[in-house]
Amino acid sequence: MMSIRSLAGACLSAFAALGAFAVPASAQNYPTRTITMIVPFAAGGPTDVISRIVTAHMAQTLGQSIVIENVVGAGGTTATTRAARAANDGYTLITGHMGTHAASVPLYPKLAYHPEKDFEPVALLAGTPILILARKDFPPKDLKEFVAYVKANAEKVNAAHAGIGSVSHASCELLNSILDVKPVGVPFNGTGPAMNALVAGQVDYMCDQIVNAVPQINAGTIKAYAVATPERNPSLPNVPTTTEAGLPAFQAQAWNAVFAPKGTSPAIIATLNAAAIKALDDENVRKRLLELGSVIPAPANRTPEALATLVKNEIAKWTPVLKPAS
Ligand code: MLT
Repeated sequence: MMSIRSLAGACLSAFAALGAFAVPASAQNYPTRTITMIVPFAAGGPTDVISRIVTAHMAQTLGQSIVIENVVGAGGTTATTRAARAANDGYTLITGHMGTHAASVPLYPKLAYHPEKDFEPVALLAGTPILILARKDFPPKDLKEFVAYVKANAEKVNAAHAGIGSVSHASCELLNSILDVKPVGVPFNGTGPAMNALVAGQVDYMCDQIVNAVPQINAGTIKAYAVATPERNPSLPNVPTTTEAGLPAFQAQAWNAVFAPKGTSPAIIATLNAAAIKALDDENVRKRLLELGSVIPAPANRTPEALATLVKNEIAKWTPVLKPAS
């Protein structure tokens, strides 16, 4: 027969255990005000476009506005540092990607954040195949000629990117290392402005995420030599893969995802993740993302745990590729 004292102790520890699962009031009613989504690059670029498409639907689900704040500089690491230091109350989020949450680790020895330690993964939004693009009057007609031309004119050609550690920088670092060339890098605050320069013929080539290139390729204002994925992209059926075009070694697909500051409550992460998943299942959101060549994550890849694994794997993948470049 349990004594009164031990019964009371058992009840107290049971209540204490329940308390550990009690959702704080702030999370129960979350969100109760506008959410800020930091985009680490200039408006109009791939990260900005993907963020705006998905967060517009998330805001409907959450019943609160989501305001995009474009914070530029240092290949996206300025914004990502700010997000890492933001309050972990669910009201400041960031759309990070293969650059801010993987490539930047080997490229910035004194990076002020760590993608795994300083963030809570929320949800993967879109995979973004990389394309090799050039200004319309760049002499090479195809990828084989591009390779020969860039090798023969290595000191003269230049490549645009969105800052050291950005996707456009990291993926072209991979391309340039395969070709064994070191073109002049021309940095911009995002590949939105970089694309304007490419269309204007002010820069020679760029490795960019497909969502930024589809409209310009369809308008005939730039050249696309190849897409760096095993299969052609349905949004660009006439653009060959790098394998078809004779450069199978260049394979590169980036991704964009939502992250929250470390310590954001699991309940808030779950609320945000559910809203992101609902957006990715919305017909109009899917149509807009697919038209731009995005790869919409399969359900199994939409969990915070899957995103944590992706970040870990991408840091491991890009570190040996980029370490020599730093
Ligand atoms: C990049 O990493 O190149 C950026 O995503 C470009 C952008 O979104 O402006």
